[in-house]
Amino acid sequence: MTVIKINAITVPSEHGEEVAKRFGARTNSVDDAPGFEGFELLRPDDDRNQWLVVTRWADDASFEAWRNSDQAAHAHQAPPGAKPPKHLGLSAELWHYVVEVASSGNSG
Ligand code: HEM
Repeated sequence: MTVIKINAITVPSEHGEEVAKRFGARTNSVDDAPGFEGFELLRPDDDRNQWLVVTRWADDASFEAWRNSDQAAHAHQAPPGAKPPKHLGLSAELWHYVVEVASSGNSG
């Protein structure tokens, strides 16, 4: 059963563009992970500063395997040529969810 792991990252507004750019440069780095079913980086469209990395996995074991892998380390490396500080000092919180009820609507 698909599990959803959400990384809620607090991003000060002055770092928003840089975070978006870093994710954009790493989009494919997780694609080949066994059991990976996709992710979206959600930018807040109100006055919150928590960005959500919503990831979907075949099961918990697939997620944990990726998390402990070189691939995950790669996804979190600073881009080549990035100037220090390589980390933006972001704080993050991991949320674990399963889909309880779903509908895909009629318009899409
Ligand atoms: C639910 C799974 C994930 C967890 C637990 C996680 C963990 C984290 C944490 C703790 C941070 C903030 C601290 C830091 O800067 O290192 C972060 C930021 C970041 N993550 Fe993830 N992450 C996840 C998914 C992903 C995925 C799928 C990608 C690949 C595209 C990714 C790429 C990044 C990037 C580019 C940053 C920006 C921060 C920086 O470069 O300093 N993350 N992640």
